[in-house]
Amino acid sequence: MTAGVQHDDRMAGYADHSRLRQTPDALRVVAALGERLARARSVVDLGCGTGALIDALAGAAPSAAITGLDAAVPRIAELRARHAGDVRVRFAVHDLREPLSALVPNGSADVITMTAVLHWLHPGESAVVRRIATALTTGGAAVLTTYHPVLEASGLGGTDAVIAEAAGATAAQFDGAGVVPVSRRTLPAVALERTLRGAFGEVESVEHTARTAPADGTAFADYVDSTFGDYYQGLFPDHATQRAAVAAAAQRRLDATGAVTSMPIRTWLCTAPDADQGIRA
Ligand SMILES: C[S@@+](CC[C@H](N)C(=O)[O-])C[C@H]1O[C@@H](n2cnc3c(N)ncnc32)[C@H](O)[C@@H]1O
Repeated sequence: MTAGVQHDDRMAGYADHSRLRQTPDALRVVAALGERLARARSVVDLGCGTGALIDALAGAAPSAAITGLDAAVPRIAELRARHAGDVRVRFAVHDLREPLSALVPNGSADVITMTAVLHWLHPGESAVVRRIATALTTGGAAVLTTYHPVLEASGLGGTDAVIAEAAGATAAQFDGAGVVPVSRRTLPAVALERTLRGAFGEVESVEHTARTAPADGTAFADYVDSTFGDYYQGLFPDHATQRAAVAAAAQRRLDATGAVTSMPIRTWLCTAPDADQGIRA
C-alpha cells in the first residue's frame, strides 16, 4: 500500500469514526450520479476502504454488479465477510498504481467511483485517471472526491495542522519524521482539472467544505488513531503523549471555532471520453 498508513489494532474503530466524512461523501456521490446508477449494470469503487460507499451504491444501483478494490488486505477481508452470500458484490485486493484491466476490463464499467483516495496515489494521478477513463463504457461516468486543504500559518492544513499544533512541530519537522503532509500529496484543483479534462469527455465539479466536529477532543484523537494508525508517531515521544496532545489541540479548536478541521473537498463528475477523442493526457 502507499507510504505510511499501517492498518494495526489502533485502527479498529475506523468504521465508526470515519463516518464523520464518509456519510456526507456517499450522499454527494450518489446524488452526482443520479439516474446513471439506476441504469448501471457494472459499478466499480476504487479504494473502497470500509465499504460505506459500496453500501450506498448497491442501494442506488439495483441492477448492477458491484466491485470494490482496495490495497488493504484486512479491509477487503472484512468486506468479503460482511457481504458473504451477496452475489451482486465482489471485492479484490488491488494496488491502484497497477493496471486495472485484469479486474475491470477496458470499456466495461458504467460507473466508477473513487472517494478520498487520489492523494494516496501521488505522483501517479495521471496514470490512474487514464485507467479509469479507459475502463468506462461509452456513455459511462466516474465520480471522484478530492481533498484540497487550506494551509495554516504552519504551512500545513487539515489533520496535519492539528498534529503540528499538538506536537509543536513545523512542516520541516514533518519531513524529518518522515511524515508527508496530505497537502503535498494533493494536486491543486486547477492542475487536477487539467488532468481530468485530458482523459475524460465532460468534466464538472462542485466544492464544499467538510467540517470535522466530533463530540470532543478525545473523539478526534480516536479518529486520528483509527484513520492514521502510527503515521504521525515519529512527531511524538510515545503514543500516550500523542493522544493527549492531539485531544488537547482538537478541544482548543472546537472551543474556538466549533470544528477541529475545515477542509475543502471537491466532487468531480467525469463522463467517458467521446469515441473519437482518445485519451489526451
Ligand atoms: C481515506 S480512505 C477512503 C476510503 C473510501 N473510499 C472512503 O471514501 O471512505 C483511502 C483508501 O485508499 C486505499 N488506498 C491507498 N493507497 C492505495 C493504493 N495504492 N491502491 C489501492 N488502494 C489504496 C486505502 O487502503 C484506503 O482504504
